[in-house]
Amino acid sequence: MDIVNKVRATSLMYDLLAKDYDGRYLGEKFQAENRQVFEWIREGRGGKIGAPRVLDLGAGTGLTLDIGVLDDGDFQDYVAVDPSAGMLEQLRMKYPEVSRVFPRTAEDFLEQNPNEIAEIVVSLFGSPSHMLPETITALPGRCIEALVLMHYAEGYFPYFYDETVIPNWSEKSREAALALLEKYPGRVEHLGTFQVVLIGENYV
Ligand SMILES: C[S@@+](CC[C@H](N)C(=O)[O-])C[C@H]1O[C@@H](n2cnc3c(N)ncnc32)[C@H](O)[C@@H]1O
Repeated sequence: MDIVNKVRATSLMYDLLAKDYDGRYLGEKFQAENRQVFEWIREGRGGKIGAPRVLDLGAGTGLTLDIGVLDDGDFQDYVAVDPSAGMLEQLRMKYPEVSRVFPRTAEDFLEQNPNEIAEIVVSLFGSPSHMLPETITALPGRCIEALVLMHYAEGYFPYFYDETVIPNWSEKSREAALALLEKYPGRVEHLGTFQVVLIGENYV
């Protein structure tokens, strides 16, 4: 399957999952993971609070806002990018104040918006596994304080995946995230079924 069809198949799958997506992740285990991710993002900002610009690649139904990353910042400073219109529809329903919502891949968004940068760039809970290795490699250039990339850990794919939508570049994408640590300050963590690469001065 070529890249275009792979992305289309993935988006359709998430469109179908979208309405029930949040309901799958209500348990305490997931809430604990969310709290940990929030702490890492805060750490990346040196414990500061308030008014970050946030670029959310693979934003899905808006988990980044659910866990409080925008803090008391302005919804205008939050950018949601995701190729699944269904997932973004849920985000819009939960957060009608968010206007910068882009129904497209991270690849297309970054190409179309070459000057878009943010204090915080996140791609959470598996989203970056869909992104091409070269996309991952370029992300530090979009980020001022903290870059948080949560790839599926080696060999893991969520149970609702079907072979037709597992991108065959996902391992290379994960490796590209690890390789960022050779060039930029940061560290790698593991959380549940995820490899978490944290890039930024505050992570060392
Ligand atoms: C497992 S969900 C995670 C959503 C959200 N980050 C969260 O933590 O709940 C993965 C998301 O990545 C999106 N996605 C797939 N391919 C993508 C791409 N090339 N660029 C950006 N997002 C993509 C999917 O549509 C889906 O919403």
